[in-house]
Amino acid sequence: MSRVALITGGGGDIGAATGRALAAAGWIVVLADLDAEAARAAAEDIAGAEGRFLDVADTGSFPAFVDGIGADHGRVDALVCAAGVEPPHTLADLDVAAWDHTLEVNLRGPALLAQATLPWWRRAGGGSLVNIGSRTWLGGAHPAYAASKAGLVGLTRSLALELAGLGVRVNAVAPSFVPTRFARQRGDAAVVAEFAEQVRRTSPLGRLVTPEDVAAAVAFLVSDGAAMITGEVLHVCGGTQLPAFPRRAVPA
Ligand SMILES: NC(=O)c1ccc[n+]([C@@H]2O[C@H](COP(=O)([O-])OP(=O)(O)OC[C@H]3O[C@@H](n4cnc5c(N)ncnc54)[C@H](O)[C@@H]3O)[C@@H](O)[C@H]2O)c1
Repeated sequence: MSRVALITGGGGDIGAATGRALAAAGWIVVLADLDAEAARAAAEDIAGAEGRFLDVADTGSFPAFVDGIGADHGRVDALVCAAGVEPPHTLADLDVAAWDHTLEVNLRGPALLAQATLPWWRRAGGGSLVNIGSRTWLGGAHPAYAASKAGLVGLTRSLALELAGLGVRVNAVAPSFVPTRFARQRGDAAVVAEFAEQVRRTSPLGRLVTPEDVAAAVAFLVSDGAAMITGEVLHVCGGTQLPAFPRRAVPA
């Protein structure tokens, strides 16, 4: 019986790429997104996948939502939390609404979705959770966003310990800048292009991260090849997480 993965933010670029990677590895994939149309459109290109509406800020809907997937497919093995928001702000213009919304989508959502998935992990005798974090947990960004992604690392490590006895592995993938629709929150096309070029120029591996790079890391972490890996943060950022960043000259 194929294993089943629920991917939030599945209508987005990283979520959809992750859906393609997991489907290629034999998983049944449910792409869930606030933008249900985008999730359904992404699922159309993936054999055996489907798109569903989910608002990860609406915690009350989680148990019925996850149970619905379990009822339809017989199991829920992997939860990949890729839904995210990054409303731009500085400390000076930070308001309560932006703070709360960032934290409820990026941090509270994954915690309570994992809680709703727990009965299905118990039933299956194990499973896997992958949270899509961000390199900003180390390097900083808009304060609420960086705080939410740093919090996600704390959540990942805590749940890795709490759920290990159930055979559930919990990891995070932390990308640097990926040129997706997400970047549009930063400003207009010229601002985004300038930022992207700056990241590319200063990246030790010399190119930008793609959604497929992130998806490949997730596909590995949910696979049996990662059976002894839990509580990790896998940086997918071309070396920009290293203290030696920016790049050193190659020795002659
Ligand atoms: N793009 C980057 O530079 C980058 C870098 C590091 C980490 N990330 C993280 O990767 C994840 C995916 O980002 P992406 O680049 O694919 O962006 P994206 O904008 O393409 O996808 C994000 C998706 O999340 C969905 N979403 C937003 N709020 C939601 C809610 N309340 N309920 C359900 N879905 C909701 C959006 O509709 C969108 O489809 C995010 O968690 C983001 O923080 C992105």
